Amino acid sequence: MRLDRFVCKSTELTKAEAIERIHLGQISVNGAVVTNEATQVHEKNKVILAGATLTARGFRYILMHKAAGTICSNKDEVYPSLFNQITIDRVSELHIAGRLDADTTGLVLITDDGRWSFNITTPSKKCKKVYRVGLTRPIADDAAAKFSNGLSLQGEDKLTLPAVLEVLSPKEVLLTITEGKFHQVKRMFSAIGNRVVSLHREKIGAVSLDVEVGQWRYLTPDEVESFLRK
Ligand code: URA
Repeated sequence: MRLDRFVCKSTELTKAEAIERIHLGQISVNGAVVTNEATQVHEKNKVILAGATLTARGFRYILMHKAAGTICSNKDEVYPSLFNQITIDRVSELHIAGRLDADTTGLVLITDDGRWSFNITTPSKKCKKVYRVGLTRPIADDAAAKFSNGLSLQGEDKLTLPAVLEVLSPKEVLLTITEGKFHQVKRMFSAIGNRVVSLHREKIGAVSLDVEVGQWRYLTPDEVESFLRK
């Protein structure tokens, strides 16, 4: 990771403070003073500040059950941020791997590891997200075929990637998608003449929601690892 990030992750310094210390020549990497904050460092490098060897804190990986009426943002807006419920240090360093709308409930993965979350959000990684969807009208017979072939959504130049529809009852379905365009699920049902009345994310990759609404827990090492396997 970048040297300024490494310094932040191993001290109580803010990013601006870390950069200042680096520019002042107070940091050495493997015995040489480094003044460029963008220098890449590895955890095996010996990074020293004021005589102390720095060790980066580990990344954090969290599963949360998002409540309706909360938002996937680092600060409150019209609705409160879901981060208000996560009472741990350095919450501002966390981000959400695939945000949900204010009225959507369910599984949200949260981390401070940008490389890890890339595996979840980038369509090319084909990470499956499963949504339980309530509809205003009975699902059409040809909906599964249309979703599987890809749909043209307003304002998008590419078709949606193949999605899998499982019909639970005429007005309740499970939809599995591997991308996360803005309001994607609602727009997909709108494109086939239906409307979403309730939306709940049950699963991302191999990880299923297993905590009560508003609650959170850390992911197990196996769960963290599962997003790195192909
Ligand atoms: N698709 C939507 O339309 N909304 C969500 O919150 C998630 C997926």
